Amino acid sequence: MHVPKPLLAALLLAPGALAQSPLYGQCGGIGWTGPTTCVSGSTCVYSNAYYSQCLPGTAVTTTTTKAATTAATTTKAATTTTAAASTSCQTAAHGFAALNGGTTGGNGGTVVVVNNWADLKKYATSTGKYVIKVSGKIVATTTGEEIPVTNDKTIVGIGTTGEIYGGGFGFNNVKNIIIRNLKIGNTYDGDWEGKTHDWDGIQSDTSSNIWVDHCIFERGADGLIDLRLDSNYITISYTTFRNHNKVLGIGWTDNVITQATIHHCYFQNVEQRNPSADNLKYAHLYNNYLYNITSYGHYSRGSTNMRIENVYFEKANNPITRDSTAILQASGCTFVSCTGTTAANSGTAFNPSSFYSYTVDATANVPALVKANAQPIASICPS
Ligand SMILES: *[C@@H]1O[C@H](CO)[C@@H](O)[C@H](O)[C@H]1NC(C)=O
Repeated sequence: MHVPKPLLAALLLAPGALAQSPLYGQCGGIGWTGPTTCVSGSTCVYSNAYYSQCLPGTAVTTTTTKAATTAATTTKAATTTTAAASTSCQTAAHGFAALNGGTTGGNGGTVVVVNNWADLKKYATSTGKYVIKVSGKIVATTTGEEIPVTNDKTIVGIGTTGEIYGGGFGFNNVKNIIIRNLKIGNTYDGDWEGKTHDWDGIQSDTSSNIWVDHCIFERGADGLIDLRLDSNYITISYTTFRNHNKVLGIGWTDNVITQATIHHCYFQNVEQRNPSADNLKYAHLYNNYLYNITSYGHYSRGSTNMRIENVYFEKANNPITRDSTAILQASGCTFVSCTGTTAANSGTAFNPSSFYSYTVDATANVPALVKANAQPIASICPS
């Protein structure tokens, strides 16, 4: 791993910096230069501006707003002394989201920890760069609310329990947003057709540089993710979409400018839009695993130019669909117990390698790889 020089110096000066505090040990506070993470089974809990302590359990205390506000101060130390924590929660995007200046979210900005809707909303809508770490399950105070995220935000779950329940995120004319390591959804209102409420997990209008990674989207009211009106430079990786009707729609525009990479995603027990890619300039889909798809799978729609590589379709109805106006080039795919129609290739699709580098896994390995990884992973943001 490359360690920047000032960071290396800090580590050499403070040899204990990477250690974890013991149970009941100090883990933060003004002037504290020791460890800011706690041993397994305990959590760093804010006591006052000068003292945070490792207390038993992984649940967070009731002084929620305070903890979140001061986390900005207490975790500052972490960004300069704890190499693992700062780099692991703050990765930059690959794929199409890496173009147009890259997608780095709030990386390098203020780090805060939130465990309630009000704090999540406060920081996600603040001006400036924020790395917002989500601790545990956060329930939306108003069901279906989509927090209007502003530019330069990383919203990342801590460990494997970060969750946005009963709400989601809205992007409107913004850029540079990372959503990682979170479960999002459960706004379902009983209307399978999604006509009652326009509640999405993520709804993006005319926004760019978006990276969604290692998330689970489930049981939404309308779309799990709707990327609309020329949203662009998008990567969705290692993410599960499950138990839903209208999964992942990209388009709702006459312009043909949207560029998206979707790989190692798990479409499981879902009906339609897996994804529906309408008028995409470039849609690059590889190493996805589609299982029990009742309406249709990958759909090259309108004037889309779609490249599909090594996707595993199992029990999928209409695994690949193409409009007569669209380009489609699929290779290396496996079809097991599929029904309906698989569209033939047509035209010559773009070459993703001319935009970014990527590695394609063998199709036979895709189900196992995707099942193991398309979800929050503890090492992405350990604390
Ligand atoms: C397949 O997915 C549909 C949702 O589209 C769901 O209703 C059904 O229960 C799933 N079937 C199985 C066997 O899981």
